[in-house]
Amino acid sequence: MLKLTSTSEDRTREIGRCIGALAREGTVIALNGELGAGKTVLAKGIAQGLGVQDDVISPSYVLMNIYPGRLNLYHFDFYRLENEEELLELGLEEYFYGDGVVVVEWADKFPGILPAKRLEIEMKKSPEDPDSSRDLYVQLQGSLRLFSLKELEKRCCL
Ligand SMILES: Nc1ncnc2c1ncn2[C@@H]1O[C@H](COP(=O)(O)OP(=O)(O)O)[C@@H](O)[C@H]1O
Ligand SMILES: [Mg+2]
Repeated sequence: MLKLTSTSEDRTREIGRCIGALAREGTVIALNGELGAGKTVLAKGIAQGLGVQDDVISPSYVLMNIYPGRLNLYHFDFYRLENEEELLELGLEEYFYGDGVVVVEWADKFPGILPAKRLEIEMKKSPEDPDSSRDLYVQLQGSLRLFSLKELEKRCCL
């Protein structure tokens, strides 16, 4: 488990850029944490790191947005999702086990549907500075060789 503390929105975006730059085909990133924790900010950074040119917006009303980049980004948000059916109708296998990078906000609402191998990031408002600081707890689930925490630490904790 890697703990990173971000003291600003810009820094969270930068951490996202590092993650996006390191992500490979098939990397699935589950983002958890309360409303306002910074999941969408991090997702925007990940998109930048993937070379996505389009503006990334919160997909909470549409369930998923697709952005072309170095690799396709599939950006999900389970916040308003009431059951897994809707996801299955989308044909999520194609995305979850495909050749792009998947970011899922509120992933822990439907943990059963996520691939076993994933990068899991829990975001929390830092108790000592909840207005502008966030603690990020980053860990790998399954034997994910598609992502290196060591590399992330090296790049992100300069
Ligand atoms: N260190 C930080 N990292 C990310 N967001 C921060 C930080 N400090 C303050 N914020 C604010 O917190 C909010 C995060 O919003 P958002 O990314 O939409 O959250 P979520 O998607 O988790 O609901 C934004 O208003 C942002 O300006
Ligand atoms: Mg969000």
